Amino acid sequence: MPAFPTNFQIQLQELFRLRRDVRRFRPDPVPEDLLTELLEAAHHAPSVGLSQPWRFVRVDDPARRQAVIAEFQRANDAASAVYDSDRARLYRSLKLAGLKEAPVHLLVCVETDPDSGHGLGRQTQPETLRDSAVCAIQNLWLTARAKGVGVGWVSILEPERLREAMDLPATWGWVGYLCIGWPLEEPEIPVLEIAGWDHRNPLAKHLLQR
Ligand SMILES: Cc1cc2nc3c(=O)[nH]c(=O)nc-3n(C[C@H](O)[C@H](O)[C@H](O)COP(=O)(O)O)c2cc1C
Repeated sequence: MPAFPTNFQIQLQELFRLRRDVRRFRPDPVPEDLLTELLEAAHHAPSVGLSQPWRFVRVDDPARRQAVIAEFQRANDAASAVYDSDRARLYRSLKLAGLKEAPVHLLVCVETDPDSGHGLGRQTQPETLRDSAVCAIQNLWLTARAKGVGVGWVSILEPERLREAMDLPATWGWVGYLCIGWPLEEPEIPVLEIAGWDHRNPLAKHLLQR
């Protein structure tokens, strides 16, 4: 396997550091060929048994988008109710989705019974199909950031409430709903950190030796 030049390695680390979840978008369209490049990057992700279980749904239909926006508003109101006073106030001040502004809505699903991969790996850990689809999202997310495109993952939705509106094949599971577009801002640290919601931990807190 060819080694990548040192300069590239440094820039790759910068890409990891500067990738952001984006909730504020300019309304300008994203060219189709650029979107295809993002999907090609996603399609190069690792997958259990080479099952390639990711499935992408472009949500362009205004009525379907409206259903997602309404479900987000419902779920977000419900979520804010679990916090007490100061934290609830802070929660309500956060912008947690760019659904109305983002020119592209992309639903990433997982095929739970893929015809590729011959079941390798998932007999013991069936959840690895979903894990593979998440790897695809990460590829897309990083490629988008490298190209100046913003991606925001919206999880404040109950997928079961949207299945009918999306009319998904029965074997497709919901993985992630992504807003994609040109970012209005490109902060160097997570927006939730800027807002005082939480902070990035030192790596040592996430390491265990056995
Ligand atoms: C699985 C997943 C779901 C997420 N869901 C939401 C969401 O619903 N709303 C939101 O504003 N951010 C969401 N995020 C983004 C996180 O808040 C964000 O990744 C984190 O605060 C770190 O910021 P950064 O991605 O800009 O580094 C999600 C991220 C992941 C990985």
